[in-house]
Amino acid sequence: MTPSAVPPVPDGVSLFATPAAMAAWSGAVRARGERVAFVPTMGALHEGHVALLREGRRHADRLALSIFVNPTQFAPHEDLARYPRDLSSDLSHAAAAGVDAVFAPDRAAMYPAGHQTTVRVHEIETGMCGDTRPGHFTGVATVVCKLFHIVQPHVAIFGEKDFQQLALIRRMVRDLDMPIEIVGLPTVRDSDGLALSSRNRFLSPEERARAVAIPMALFAARARLASGERDAAVLISEVRRTLVGAVDRIDYVELRDVENLRPLEMVDRAAVIAVAVHIGSTRLIDNVRLE
Ligand code: PAF
Repeated sequence: MTPSAVPPVPDGVSLFATPAAMAAWSGAVRARGERVAFVPTMGALHEGHVALLREGRRHADRLALSIFVNPTQFAPHEDLARYPRDLSSDLSHAAAAGVDAVFAPDRAAMYPAGHQTTVRVHEIETGMCGDTRPGHFTGVATVVCKLFHIVQPHVAIFGEKDFQQLALIRRMVRDLDMPIEIVGLPTVRDSDGLALSSRNRFLSPEERARAVAIPMALFAARARLASGERDAAVLISEVRRTLVGAVDRIDYVELRDVENLRPLEMVDRAAVIAVAVHIGSTRLIDNVRLE
């Protein structure tokens, strides 16, 4: 964040651009014996993020938000350059949601020259988005690990829409003995069922109308399970049948164990059915739990 790019900061919100300044704030809060909740984001905040922030407020005395479009989780052909950025609007959302501290570093602050350490969660990062976005989850695990060290939260809140990401972060926190509680929040949806996403703003009205097929397909799979169908191949092929014709490309439809994300042949335990599709030039993901 260059000084000229800093918009007015709402009252009650502290804005930090360097890891040292952010860590000093957290250190002071913790020294007073207060708890810190943290919501990491890439900005372009919408009601889904606001729900995460409200949840954060319930868990701690102070609430920190990070806004950083992390370049290392985008492959060269992906949408890093066009990813929406609007710090001014994000700060207004943050203030309205009761955020105390916003950490909005630039790339050089997070990845200074010579940076070369990464974090890799081997099994969970394979399959699903890991297959179609090679390197994505190493980028996510690395930046979230760094953010956790900088912000030092007691609790961090993530959306279940990014189900694989949430499972990966839970695993990383366990494996690296990080004393942080991870809370997952159910996906926030529009009234027609489409999961809220910063990328929805790229959809034309015609594409937005087609995108409703995604929740329709997933909800239909959940209904089929409720009426007794437990065969993963059948449920997956029904989701695919609803999606074909509505979306332009299907990256995957997968049915997996909710905890370790291993593929399931039968739904005989808590599972998740997850999809990634392309509509026009926009890639969307969604999932529902199959209990
Ligand atoms: O979910 C996101 O917005 C990002 O993947 C995250 C967790 C902020 C890491 O860059």
